[in-house]
Amino acid sequence: MAPTVVLYETIPPDLLALLEQNCDLTFVESLQSVYQADLQTLLANAEGMIGVKDKIGPEILDLAPKLKVISTISVGYDKFDVADLSKRNIMLMHTPDVLTETTADTIFMLILCSARRAVELNDMIRQSQWHDDIGAEYFGTDVHGKKLGILGMGRIGSAVAKRAYGGFNMEILYYSRSVNERAQKDFQAQRFSLNHVLAESDFVCVTLPLSEQTRKLIGPKELALMKPGAFLINGGRGPIIDERALIEALQKGIIKGAGLDVYEQEPLSGDSPLVDMANVITLPHVGSATHETRYAMAECAVKNLLAALTERTSVNCVNPEVIDRVSSY
Ligand code: DGY
Repeated sequence: MAPTVVLYETIPPDLLALLEQNCDLTFVESLQSVYQADLQTLLANAEGMIGVKDKIGPEILDLAPKLKVISTISVGYDKFDVADLSKRNIMLMHTPDVLTETTADTIFMLILCSARRAVELNDMIRQSQWHDDIGAEYFGTDVHGKKLGILGMGRIGSAVAKRAYGGFNMEILYYSRSVNERAQKDFQAQRFSLNHVLAESDFVCVTLPLSEQTRKLIGPKELALMKPGAFLINGGRGPIIDERALIEALQKGIIKGAGLDVYEQEPLSGDSPLVDMANVITLPHVGSATHETRYAMAECAVKNLLAALTERTSVNCVNPEVIDRVSSY
C-alpha cells in the first residue's frame, strides 16, 4: 500500500506528480494554516512528512504516531530536535551537496558587495546623487590577495575557499573542529584557533551550522579581536553571531562592515538598526535561492523521502542510528 504522506510546502508540479504517483498524498500550504482538530486528522496516519517552513516540534509529533520519515527541503536541520526524533524512531532526511555551490556564490557575492560597497553606491545613483567622479569617501576595499578566514570548513566553506584561492588569490585561514586535508592541499588553507582566524583575517565568513556549540560563538570579545578594517560575512545561521554585539561593533567602528544573509530572528524586522547601516548588506536568507538550486533541493527531498520510506537508506539521513533500530517498514 502507498505510504501516507503530508506535504507542507509548494513544490514544482513534476515533483508533486512524483509524490502523488508513489504516495497517498495530502498537501497543505503550511501546517500553521491547519486548525488543531484538522491537524490531528491530517497527521493521524502520516508515515512521511516533507516541507521546510514549519517548525516540527513535540506538539506536532505527538499527533503523528505512525510517522517514520521527515524530509526537510534544506541542508540545515537546526529547527529539529534530532535526539527527540531518534527517540521516536523517526528518520530525518536533508539536502546536502545540491546547494553547496549556489550558497558559496551568495557568500562570495556578500564579500565582494560589502568590500566594494555595491549596494551603497547603487543607492547613491538611485537617489540621483552621482554628480561627478566619486571621491575617496566612496572608495572600497580590495578583495583579491587578502586573507579570508572561514569559520567551518565543510562543503560550503570549501566551496568558498575554492573561489577565494583560485579566483582571487586569497590566503585561506580556517577554524574547524576537524582538519580538512583536501582544503589544506587544494587551497593551501591553514587551520588555526578561532581567535587567531578572527585577528588575522581581512574577511571572516561564517559557514558553520547552528548547534549548542556554535550559538553566539561570535560575541563582543570575538568581534573586538577583528581588524578595524575587516568585514564579517554570515551565510551560516544568524544565532551564531550575537547580533546586538555586531550592531555595536559596526556602530563603534570596531569592524568595517558586514554582509548578512541570516539573522537571530527571521524575517529580520525593518526596525533593526542593521537595515539602515550603510556598511551593512542584508539579504533575506537567500543563500540557496536560485530557480535551479531550489528545484534541485525539492527534487533531492522528494527522492530522500521515497528512498527512506521504501529502502530505509542512510544517504542524506541525519540520524542513521534509527535505521538499525527499526526492523521493518
Ligand atoms: C538550508 O538549506 O539550510 C538553507 O539555509 C535554506 O534554508
